[in-house]
Amino acid sequence: MTAETIIELSGVEKRFGTLTAVRDLDLELVKGEFFSLLGPSGCGKTTALRMIAGFQEPSSGTIRIDGEDVSTVPANRRPTNMVFQSYAIFPHLDVGDNVGFGLHRSGLSRKERRARVSEALELVELGGYERRRANQLSGGQQQRVALARALVMRPKVLLLDEPLSALDKNLREAMQLELRRLQQSIGITFVMVTHDQYEAMTMSDRIGVMFNGQLEQVDTPQTLYASPGTRSVANFIGGMNFLPARLHNEGGGTLDMEIAGFGAMAVGRNPNVADHGRNALVGIRPEQLEIAAHRPEGYDSTVQCRVADIAFYGESIHYFVEVDGVPETMTVAVPNYFHSVDFTRGATAWLGVQAASVIDLGRNRDNETQQGEKT
Ligand SMILES: Nc1ncnc2c1ncn2[C@@H]1O[C@H](COP(=O)(O)OP(=O)(O)O)[C@@H](O)[C@H]1O
Ligand SMILES: [Mg+2]
Repeated sequence: MTAETIIELSGVEKRFGTLTAVRDLDLELVKGEFFSLLGPSGCGKTTALRMIAGFQEPSSGTIRIDGEDVSTVPANRRPTNMVFQSYAIFPHLDVGDNVGFGLHRSGLSRKERRARVSEALELVELGGYERRRANQLSGGQQQRVALARALVMRPKVLLLDEPLSALDKNLREAMQLELRRLQQSIGITFVMVTHDQYEAMTMSDRIGVMFNGQLEQVDTPQTLYASPGTRSVANFIGGMNFLPARLHNEGGGTLDMEIAGFGAMAVGRNPNVADHGRNALVGIRPEQLEIAAHRPEGYDSTVQCRVADIAFYGESIHYFVEVDGVPETMTVAVPNYFHSVDFTRGATAWLGVQAASVIDLGRNRDNETQQGEKT
């Protein structure tokens, strides 16, 4: 049995004059999942979320929530609720009135409303805060009030637009885990917008990565990290070394790649004879490279390198190294484990890499453009 669909966007597009903020958006979300839309500022995340909420009407395409076409249904009649980037809390009202604000037209009695408010405050761990003034609360507490105000309406889907961006780093990280726990305990679908890759990865069941109004890949955090489909996704999520390569396939067996600087490796992905000789782009994560003073053993490829620069991050050390034949400086990330690895600037070292760590990013469009321009 497949999980039940809660939100379905098909061919959704939003144009502002000549600008297309969101294009050709197809997306299916399942009940109870924590889904994040991740992408750089201006890529159309908020616009997509506002269309799901009903604050903005799509220029074309349809939006279905829980089986119903809501494309023309106003926000207040959709089973969704939104937590805004700025909490939009009324500073002159107390916490209880802030949280209960949306219930006034619900037809519930005063007593029922009070019970619902206190239940929502319990959920966000602000039980008993009803009579506190909103402007006397810390940033983290205001964020929780905004959350309680959305949850009190018992939405089927909670929409969150960069909900933690106003908080400082430590509080933000604590709230990430807390928000995730809350979502799991109440079991409703969360759709969050963020430009922070770590936030998206720590909190989400699945992530949709957007660039220039377009969804480029939808996957679990683990899959996005291990198998990014495009250079932009690979570059946006975690660090990545990009290397030009050329495919070799003399028929049958695994696919060989001739990788700049590293030589031939049996990468073995979808052998296709027609691919023989094609330009490719591969990626290697900085932490998948071994750096050592002597040629390391047990690797599919080893090459010499020169340490050009070093960055100390506390828990890890990054070496920026040059390898003959590799056009760009490569990054090697080493966990700071008893200083087992310690090179100085200008030192000569060895790199080791396994074929399994080489990510095939498909055609190398950079090379193709350059070659096209030459001819
Ligand atoms: N109401 C609007 N009128 C005109 N342009 C808009 C409007 N809202 C958003 N945009 C534009 O649409 C693009 C996407 O914006 P937005 O969805 O806010 O991006 P994000 O949330 O990913 O930062 C941007 O270029 C932005 O300037
Ligand atoms: Mg935004």
